[in-house]
Amino acid sequence: MSDILLGYQVSTGKEVRIPFAHTVVCGQTQASGKTTTLEGLLSRSGGDLPRPALAFLTKRAESAFVKARSIPPYFRDRADWQFVESILEAMMRERMKYQREWIIRVCQGATTLERVAKNVESALHGDRHKKAATSYAAGMYLQLSEYFKLLMPELRRLKLNMATRGSALDLKPGLNVMDLSDYSTEMQSLAIASAMEEIYRRRGVITVIPEAWEFLPQARNTPVKMAGESLIRKGAAAQNFMWLDSQDITGVDKRILKQVGVWILGVQREVNEVEHTLAQMAVPKKLKPKPEEVMQLRRGQFFACFEDVLTRVYVLPSWMPAEVGFTIARALPAQAGDELVKNAIARFQPASARHEEDENVDYRELFEDAQRTIEQLKAEIEQLKRSGAGAAPAPTPKDRSSALVPPATEFVGGNNDEVSMSLEVKRPVIDLTVRKYVIEASDATKTGRLALLLSQGFFDQPRKIANLNDEFRARGWMKQTGAPTPLNLDLAKLAEMGFLRLVGQATYQAVPGMRVNVKEVEAVA
Ligand SMILES: Nc1ncnc2c1ncn2[C@@H]1O[C@H](COP(=O)(O)OP(=O)(O)OP(=O)(O)O)[C@@H](O)[C@H]1O
Ligand SMILES: [Mg+2]
Repeated sequence: MSDILLGYQVSTGKEVRIPFAHTVVCGQTQASGKTTTLEGLLSRSGGDLPRPALAFLTKRAESAFVKARSIPPYFRDRADWQFVESILEAMMRERMKYQREWIIRVCQGATTLERVAKNVESALHGDRHKKAATSYAAGMYLQLSEYFKLLMPELRRLKLNMATRGSALDLKPGLNVMDLSDYSTEMQSLAIASAMEEIYRRRGVITVIPEAWEFLPQARNTPVKMAGESLIRKGAAAQNFMWLDSQDITGVDKRILKQVGVWILGVQREVNEVEHTLAQMAVPKKLKPKPEEVMQLRRGQFFACFEDVLTRVYVLPSWMPAEVGFTIARALPAQAGDELVKNAIARFQPASARHEEDENVDYRELFEDAQRTIEQLKAEIEQLKRSGAGAAPAPTPKDRSSALVPPATEFVGGNNDEVSMSLEVKRPVIDLTVRKYVIEASDATKTGRLALLLSQGFFDQPRKIANLNDEFRARGWMKQTGAPTPLNLDLAKLAEMGFLRLVGQATYQAVPGMRVNVKEVEAVA
């Protein structure tokens, strides 16, 4: 079979069949019927023996596929620097241009991410063979070390899951679903990418990628994007196709969209969104619907655009008898058609497919979560009140000049004040880039407290972590005995943003010219 039944043309009831190709299904959440469309197509993708297809569940509340086989998460280790860089970019949602050199170094000779993480630690702290990094290198390795600390526990959890549920990517004919909703987006990205890499060693597999704007963004690399580009380029020859399921395609990588052969457009309500979608389609203008036509679509209706065809179609869900779909299409676009759709849903849609958004939300868990947060906040407020009682009374704006504040800054001390910072960074390049960061932090957080110290000139001279621990203890911000609260990450962040410089091993100093503006907020002691 070289094509698949999508549904019936609105008003004539003519069959609409689409070719196997890289495909986009887009449209507004719930109101369009994307999952229903994909599931209908997949169920008819191979006659008696449908093609193997793999979809990913990435959100708890996502409407699930009804007739799917659940498979365990899959991950295959890699440690080339391009891959590692893409993971970090996916994690940080920004490019890793400045870190590249250091990423390359820690990936040398590694074949697993676990090894890369170890390499980062030895580079940062030194080992039998080499000394600990210093100055700029130390700052870079510190950043990488913190990124890996976020990544590795999730990766180990996923690997444990694989160890107990099977470690191969076992795809059977029909729809296979990998539930990744328990993992962070970064980990999901890793698992999806691994599965795609495995798929391009096979033939005739359809991969359904959810939320394309998140996993295949234009602006940065993600593991899925790297794997997706290869799959979409080489895939068609091996009959491996990518089907994108995405509310809208704003911000989706253009190189990927260029390879799309079939567009299935459902209702979108925002005229800008529709215009953007239409602009991204690499088909002649006469094969594109008008924006207002897209905005008038209703649930289950789509414009299908492919080859030289542009047609409005009522999509046949997997659970609906073909003759019912045909009758509905003939009655549409009139109101009577919509009535028939409603009746057909009531009569034929299995209860398991009626995934109203609320159904999947675990309110009890949410409620308990909220309770825990409230308790935590109460304890923090109590602690702040206690530490505030012993501290010097907060200077009022009137006696500010006599307070411990350098004249260039405005500062009102005391707990619960807000500190906002803005700064300029000038990089020594020919076309000068000026970046301005604004941090809103209260002095109840570590970053806020460091900001306060910055504003008070504490970092005008080089300060070691030990000096900071002493200062934090003197201000009642840290317990007096036992291990100190780690401040490295907060310091590294301030250094990355250009407030601080690492001027020796774990020694920081304020960047000349950086500016801290402190916002005055009335504080109740
Ligand atoms: N072709 C159709 N015929 C009849 N009912 C449909 C059709 N498509 C969707 N529906 C109805 O709309 C509901 C939502 O559809 P679906 O879950 O496919 O939307 P979605 O666009 O994938 O939403 P989300 O963006 O939240 O994933 C379905 O449960 C079903 O009742
Ligand atoms: Mg859906």
